[in-house]
Amino acid sequence: MEETKKPTRKLTTASGRPYTEHENTQSVGRRGPLLLQDFVLHEKMAHFNRERIPERVVHAKGTGAYGTLTVTHDISKYTKAKIFNKIGNTCKMFLRFSTVGGEKGSADSERDPRGFALKFYTEDGNWDLVGNNTPIFFIKDPKKFSDFIHTQKREPRTNLKSPTMMWDFWSLNPESLHQVMILMTDRGTPFSYRHMDGFGSHTYSMINADNERVWVKFHFKTQQGIKNFTGPEADAMRAQDMDHSQRDLVEAIDNKDFPKWTMKIQVMTEEEAKTFRWNPFDLSKVWPHAEFPLIEVGEIELNQVPRNYFAHVEQAAFAPSNLIDGIGFSPDKMLQGRILSYADAHRHRLGVNYEQIPVNACPFMVNNYHRDGQMRVDDNGNEEPNYYPNSFGDVIPDESYKEPAWELDSNIADWYDRNEGEGDNDHYTQPGDLYRKVLSESDRKNLISNIVGAMSGISGPRREQIINLQLCHWFRADIGLGMAIASGLGIDANQAMQQQKH
Ligand code: HEM
Repeated sequence: MEETKKPTRKLTTASGRPYTEHENTQSVGRRGPLLLQDFVLHEKMAHFNRERIPERVVHAKGTGAYGTLTVTHDISKYTKAKIFNKIGNTCKMFLRFSTVGGEKGSADSERDPRGFALKFYTEDGNWDLVGNNTPIFFIKDPKKFSDFIHTQKREPRTNLKSPTMMWDFWSLNPESLHQVMILMTDRGTPFSYRHMDGFGSHTYSMINADNERVWVKFHFKTQQGIKNFTGPEADAMRAQDMDHSQRDLVEAIDNKDFPKWTMKIQVMTEEEAKTFRWNPFDLSKVWPHAEFPLIEVGEIELNQVPRNYFAHVEQAAFAPSNLIDGIGFSPDKMLQGRILSYADAHRHRLGVNYEQIPVNACPFMVNNYHRDGQMRVDDNGNEEPNYYPNSFGDVIPDESYKEPAWELDSNIADWYDRNEGEGDNDHYTQPGDLYRKVLSESDRKNLISNIVGAMSGISGPRREQIINLQLCHWFRADIGLGMAIASGLGIDANQAMQQQKH
């Protein structure tokens, strides 16, 4: 808390009336009872009773900071977004980090993906990139999201976290394998938010001044270096300091050790997308860097801890629907699902006018025909027309912002199962490559011990069935990995191998 500045300021009621007595309620006689007319008592109690707003249904525990995006390389051949039209351009930004499954008071060092949600205040509107510290995700159809998240939260009867629910779901949804593998490496327990990469994860599009479209993925490489806890170190930190990542970020920025990330993109042309061996819009897959190299774009730096956590971090509202001219959606089903979900969540959590809260408000131009609603705190359009079209006002759509049309590869509406379609049911090649080609010997050792530790928590009458099914997936990714996990779980590896052949 900052030192009180001189001269002091008068204490007032919420309506601004200076008053004297903040600690003692007016009473009849020294020993009470209290008088209702000392309404300040009620004002204090009533406000206190309403201090809590709903916590985010996911990513409830988090921290955030303001900073700057600086463009260092020219990518204007891919996008007409104004922020990228010149090297040296800068814009203010806000970044909120989070864990996913835990409640608002949960520990920072839990094994969990980490949220990496960016808001860029560009002159073309606020651009939100609501990603994680992993390039992929557990599922690839948004209809499964609530089921998946239920398994990461508390079990309905015991109100305890349940490894059985988690592995049951993962074993029945093999598209999760790639992300589960990353989660079980030490990247599942980052040392702090400063020491991890961020990813936009989805495939987005970029549209240039000639209205040509490419598909794009966003990457943010930490300049602090990747640093992770091992499983036992993370467990120890949970006991020692529940808020380790929050503390680490605030202290670094307060000490002017401003954390930075290098922003990069991968680009795929529409033609390349047609022949890519996997679905380029499948969030459970990466685009190999050897084929789609990282292209440097800029740098983000966090340099200001908000002066009030609730006002800025708790009330921050990010939405994948917030894109800007020159950056667009893609057919990625998960992205499509998220387009509607977030604004709906914010209307529930913060109210319909949440985009007027300073951290969410566009500092440039906002003109539309939305009116009224709870907590409307701007001038509400003053006396201007509140309908469109009209013959009086000057707020009109600008055709030049229209995106080029999409060419779709099908006009057949159906419910497409994950096990149909070329390349779409290959849940094993990329996890296998990750295990064999990307992870180091010690990464692999820690991965196996983390998986064995986590799967050992599976209990109940379906234990054997869930373990065997999940073992099948590990075997299919890599036989050696499957063998090592089976033996760690005390299961005869050869027998398990035989079982999985049948
Ligand atoms: C937060 C829904 C997938 C990253 C949230 C919230 C909802 C939600 C409702 C809470 C919003 C709030 O109250 O402020 C969904 C749905 C998904 C999905 C329906 C899939 C269909 C993903 C994926 C990622 C992601 C794939 C990352 C690649 C985040 C992050 C936050 C968040 C970082 C926290 C934002 C913040 O810091 O305020 N999600 N999510 N989500 N989600 Fe998702």
